[in-house]
Amino acid sequence: MTKRVALVTGGMGGIGTAVCRRLARMNGNVVMANCLPGYEKKDQWLAQLRAEGYDNVFAAEGDVSDFDSAAGMVRGIVSEIGPVDILVNSAGIVRDNVLKKMSLSDWLAVISTNLNSAFIVTKQVIEGMTERGWGRIVNLSSVNGQRGQFGQTNYSAAKAGLHGFAKALAQEVVRKGVTVNSVSPGYVETDMVKSIRKDVLEKIVAGIPMGRLAHPEEIAALIAFLASEEAGYITGANIAINGGMYMS
Ligand code: CAA
Repeated sequence: MTKRVALVTGGMGGIGTAVCRRLARMNGNVVMANCLPGYEKKDQWLAQLRAEGYDNVFAAEGDVSDFDSAAGMVRGIVSEIGPVDILVNSAGIVRDNVLKKMSLSDWLAVISTNLNSAFIVTKQVIEGMTERGWGRIVNLSSVNGQRGQFGQTNYSAAKAGLHGFAKALAQEVVRKGVTVNSVSPGYVETDMVKSIRKDVLEKIVAGIPMGRLAHPEEIAALIAFLASEEAGYITGANIAINGGMYMS
């Protein structure tokens, strides 16, 4: 199995961390965990992964919603480690509110971190992947991009947009050995989900047919499969992983 270089945006977040661990256990891949420049928990996060034995995971600082910052980050990875073969676009934030109370800045923050980032970071790596004839791009979409969610016009729009982006790009690179897919998790045990108001979250969990939140590792396993050699015939797909919340 070939050793690859993987870049995971939002790599120090709830799902991102599980993805980094999983990709790092696959073929001795080198994994670059992206975080914002100056992220205060970066050293602690890296120390934790080192303590777990992951000596092939490194930090890649860059603001993925900012073209120049992301371009500089990817240039650094290419010169120090090598070209990026696997890109997981998992950077994401929430700014939940009903539309009538949502500010323009909360709309724009979510669209730029969750959706513009996919364009910005993919732009830095896609040509290299097609020239080398191998690449894997996996976008972290959401059940709420598929079915919409009360209080999340911004997030649902961004997550639906991510899969539209994946389907269009998948067509552009389908003959070049590069696959582009999305995964759409339901509610996962992460700080993001834990930040939902307790009464609201209880109702959400009660409505999940499987009766529980997903474990981040369950999402990471699917992403790692899509990033593997074996998944080479899957492209333009959006794979649901939501405990039965939304069946498509
Ligand atoms: N459908 C219909 N009506 C609803 C509703 C729903 N899903 N949820 C709430 N309402 C109703 C309420 O019953 C209430 O009605 P009344 O005024 O008649 O009592 C009204 O809408 C206002 O509801 P809230 O009290 O909740 O309004 P709020 O302004 O205090 O809070 C909110 C709004 C912040 C959006 C809150 O509803 C909320 O946090 N919702 C959860 C949003 C959510 O699921 N976020 C997911 C974050 S994690 C994530 O996104 C990861 C992922 O990919 C899955």
